[in-house]
Amino acid sequence: MNKILKKIGLLAFVFLFLSCSKIKKNPSKPYFGNGFRNGWVDQNSITIWTRLTENPNLNSEGASFITLTKKESAKLAKLTDVNLLHDAQIPEGLTLKDMEGACPGTSGEVKLIYYEQKGNKKKVETKWCKVNETKNYTWQWKLKNLKANTIYSLKVYSRIDKGFEISDSVSGLFKTPPKKNIKKDISFSVVSCHDYNRRDSIIGHKIYTAMAKDSLDFYVHTGDIEYYDKNNPWAFTESLMRFKWDRLFALPLQRDFFTKTTSYFMKDDHDVLKNDASPGTMYGSVTFKRGLEIFEKEQFPSNEKTYKTIRWGKDLQVWLLEGRNYRSKNELKDGANKTILGKEQKEWFYKTLDASNAKYKVVISASPILGPDRAVGKNDNHSNTAFYFEGQEIRDFINKYNNVFVCVGDRHWQYATHFKDSNLWEFGCGSGADAHAGGWNPNDLRPEHKFLRVKGGYLVGKVFTEKNVTKLKFEHRDVNGNKVHEETFER
Ligand SMILES: [Fe+2]
Repeated sequence: MNKILKKIGLLAFVFLFLSCSKIKKNPSKPYFGNGFRNGWVDQNSITIWTRLTENPNLNSEGASFITLTKKESAKLAKLTDVNLLHDAQIPEGLTLKDMEGACPGTSGEVKLIYYEQKGNKKKVETKWCKVNETKNYTWQWKLKNLKANTIYSLKVYSRIDKGFEISDSVSGLFKTPPKKNIKKDISFSVVSCHDYNRRDSIIGHKIYTAMAKDSLDFYVHTGDIEYYDKNNPWAFTESLMRFKWDRLFALPLQRDFFTKTTSYFMKDDHDVLKNDASPGTMYGSVTFKRGLEIFEKEQFPSNEKTYKTIRWGKDLQVWLLEGRNYRSKNELKDGANKTILGKEQKEWFYKTLDASNAKYKVVISASPILGPDRAVGKNDNHSNTAFYFEGQEIRDFINKYNNVFVCVGDRHWQYATHFKDSNLWEFGCGSGADAHAGGWNPNDLRPEHKFLRVKGGYLVGKVFTEKNVTKLKFEHRDVNGNKVHEETFER
């Protein structure tokens, strides 16, 4: 009997020893509730962004924020006491985690594996990294030494700590652009202006279902990705701003699209701070400078500069302009010293545009350069009187070329404008949902309007070669991806 007991004891000891020395049990989190997204890709590099979350999905059964009148919200926007700004909107006894749409972050480690989808399948594996708790539990990798014109597969993994099992993983892909000597058909989309509250399906915006079928080479969001200065909740504090990003990017349609699509994210006033935000302004407890940092260094893939030009093969070069960081205050008198682009960016823009031998040059700006824009309620872009001087300088410069096309966001209607006897063309992609459209009278069709539609949707650009002729086509789409207008150019 003693022998048997001894044997059992030994077995129990061996079992206990083995279980302790093995990888610790999966604690069931953290998750990738916001998936991952990429930004700033060129022939050699890309930035990958991700975030760890407490739950796999957003809190769909959470409480509602306290509704404020416009007058109350305008008053609170001038205050800086964080507790007061939260108490005015979060019901007593609850925290942000309890609110509908919440997708709280959590600590843990992430790892990335990536490899060429075809050909050399040698996997590159990063080391495990602790997500940044001071940056909303996010992490970013800058991948370098990539191959041009290549599709890469990637997969992110999470674990709570060293020695623990993997708790979640998400797969996806991105493309690098072809070099300037490579002739290739390219298609891309341009979107603007949509937010969680005005989404047209419970699981996200329909445009993401439509664009997923478009076989895009890349996607550009021109800004107003979310609106801090709108209700449910009014984002007067950094925590409320983060709440809005966590919620938006937990939407399944968005989350799925971004893991599989090569993307560029620009920003505008509403996702930096508030309507018409410029340096020195504040919104609740948040400064303009912090607004920029939260967007550029925390919530979106980072890059040294927030303007960039990318060659997408022989026939296409794209410019992404920065419209917020370097601008003068709106209230300054218009003239030679008033700017949106800033001296350095403007010089870079003129120099690189002039030096490019791409067949088609597409300039993407957060807000209009040509317009027309309405005269009332908006006065912070190159088509408004507030920045007319610099606007005219840019329009004159672009007009020297017959192969430069401007794509813009910001305005909540779709349009194509062309001024007679000029080389100037501008395509406004419109808002990302019908519920978000408005701001222009659909009957106010000006001579320069080649197309006008006060509804939601997006813009698709295509460079393609047909019977040895390389063309550029712009298609306006509705929210379901149906074509509502097209313009084709042959240069
Ligand atoms: Fe907008």
